[in-house]
Amino acid sequence: MELQEMLGVYKEIAQTYFSQFRNVINERCKEIDSFHLIALTIGFTLMLVWIYNFVFQPESISSRLKKQMFRIIRRMPFIGAQIQQKLNKALDEMSERMVLSKNGMSYVYALPKTGLQQEKVMCKLKEYSAIGDVSWEAGKVSGTVYSGEKRLTQLLVKVYGEFAWTNPLHPDIFPGVRKMEAEVVRMTCTLFHGGPDSCGTVTSGGTESILMACKAYRDLAFERGIKYPEIVAPVSAHAAFDKAAHYFGMKIVHVPVDENTMQVNVKAMRRAISKNTAMLVCSAPQFPHGAIDPIEDVAKLAVKYKLPLHVDACLGGFLIVFMEKAGFPLKPFDFRVKGVTSISADTHKYGYAPKGSSVILYSDKKYRHYQFFVAPDWQGGIYASPAIAGSRPGGIIAACWATMMHIGEDGYIEATKNIIKAARFIESELRKIKEIFIFGKPEVSVIALGSNKFDIYRLSNSLTAKGWNLNSLQFPSSIHLCLTLLHTKPGVAQEFVTDVKHSVSVIMKDPGAKTTGVGAIYGMAQAIPDRTMVTEISQAFLDCLYSTENHSNTKHINGSAE
Ligand SMILES: *Cc1c(COP(=O)(O)O)cnc(C)c1O
Ligand SMILES: *[C@@H]1O[C@H](CO)[C@@H](O)[C@H](O)[C@H]1NC(C)=O
Ligand SMILES: *[C@@H]1O[C@H](CO)[C@@H](O)[C@H](O)[C@H]1NC(C)=O
Repeated sequence: MELQEMLGVYKEIAQTYFSQFRNVINERCKEIDSFHLIALTIGFTLMLVWIYNFVFQPESISSRLKKQMFRIIRRMPFIGAQIQQKLNKALDEMSERMVLSKNGMSYVYALPKTGLQQEKVMCKLKEYSAIGDVSWEAGKVSGTVYSGEKRLTQLLVKVYGEFAWTNPLHPDIFPGVRKMEAEVVRMTCTLFHGGPDSCGTVTSGGTESILMACKAYRDLAFERGIKYPEIVAPVSAHAAFDKAAHYFGMKIVHVPVDENTMQVNVKAMRRAISKNTAMLVCSAPQFPHGAIDPIEDVAKLAVKYKLPLHVDACLGGFLIVFMEKAGFPLKPFDFRVKGVTSISADTHKYGYAPKGSSVILYSDKKYRHYQFFVAPDWQGGIYASPAIAGSRPGGIIAACWATMMHIGEDGYIEATKNIIKAARFIESELRKIKEIFIFGKPEVSVIALGSNKFDIYRLSNSLTAKGWNLNSLQFPSSIHLCLTLLHTKPGVAQEFVTDVKHSVSVIMKDPGAKTTGVGAIYGMAQAIPDRTMVTEISQAFLDCLYSTENHSNTKHINGSAE
């Protein structure tokens, strides 16, 4: 009773104040013309909306202001021209370095009027396969070719011949290839200890697998009412996550890694989680330094905040699942960890299948449904497709299936044993060289090198001169070797160690010398504050890939364009 009375009193007071407030305002506005008042109100509201939209965009305001500033600088008469000149020089150097044309090489510009005889085609084909002088067969290239075994190649050629015309888009016509795809997914689920509801699809590669996971979680986030879904991923996560964010209108929030272990900083990851977070990401291992993120800790965050967690095992998926049996146990990383909802693993890397296949797995069918696309009203029929492509190469799926069946568990364990043994040997030998260091603790097959004494890109250059081909990494400057079956051949690991030792001793005669070649480009690219310029150079690089000119002359890109 009392409470109600009191509330009544408050209500009365409030009403009195409100009517007084109203009277004051009306009194003040008496002189103002009503039209003026309405127009002003509308104008002010529109301005607020505009400011809100300007400030809150997917790209941060500071990033946009920075870009605008660089745009202005490049339009300045003198400085702009100088920047343009530098840019053109970098482009010329780059196109010169690329094998665009060789002596006597000419391009085909149109279809041959009459088709070539098969022998003629094969003859031409030999010319093409002879272009280039990096010999990956000898095991001098980082990553790239994961098996290359001749007998496996022979099998793959036969399998492709048998299934060349198949297309899983038509399961009624090619039921065999449907069965193969389902079995590839199931075998991979088993390897990652998926439960009875685990499922997945075969995709064209790691990037598509990652794109699909991000698309699924974006749509899940939309359903949960999140308008601007965010991917929370370590800076070391593969660029495919940035690509996914770009393609699917998501935002990617990069989380720093610990600079000693190169594993994601879990505390920073927790701070990066917001009401817009759609998914968390871990890598097992990550590409740059081969470190495996603390998956169990991140999974706890995922469970706590009810978020899906994707484990990117594209690179090492078909190594890590055999590590325990090969005698190198790892911390849990698969569906046995509560909170892990999806895993990507590339059959075309350490699965040793030919390029063009990967597997995306989910812990539950409810996630996979968000990946699927269905157009129920299409005139061409009810169109349902599992991943990005419509028609898909059944021959590649068959080759993937055949590879897995042929190698078998014992084959994979043996391969893993040999690769890890070679990696551990190289690691322990390189740790003896004082002038360089190894990033974190390489758990699987990637060994990343840095140096406090000299520019590490010089080591890369020096090794290139000795026939090696390593990956250049940035932020921080580093290089890595990703070991494959080709590095397990007798003498290859020892040769690498010897060559690194020799190169370092030569470099240390003049540790401050200037870096040249590709290393210099990488060093420069990291130092350019205007990242759009790096993008422009890279776009010109992509243009070069499609060049059919006899003489390398890149068209200079126009700074003032856009
Ligand atoms: C290679 C790789 C990918 C992407 O694979 P693609 O097959 O090149 O698309 C994704 N994540 C990691 C860690 C990788 O090494
Ligand atoms: C390239 O060279 C071939 C023969 O050497 C010639 O037929 C062709 O016209 C040349 N193309 C260009 C664009 O110069
Ligand atoms: C570069 O831009 C200028 C104008 O800013 C234009 O006149 C010129 O044609 C452009 N060049 C190319 C190659 O696009």
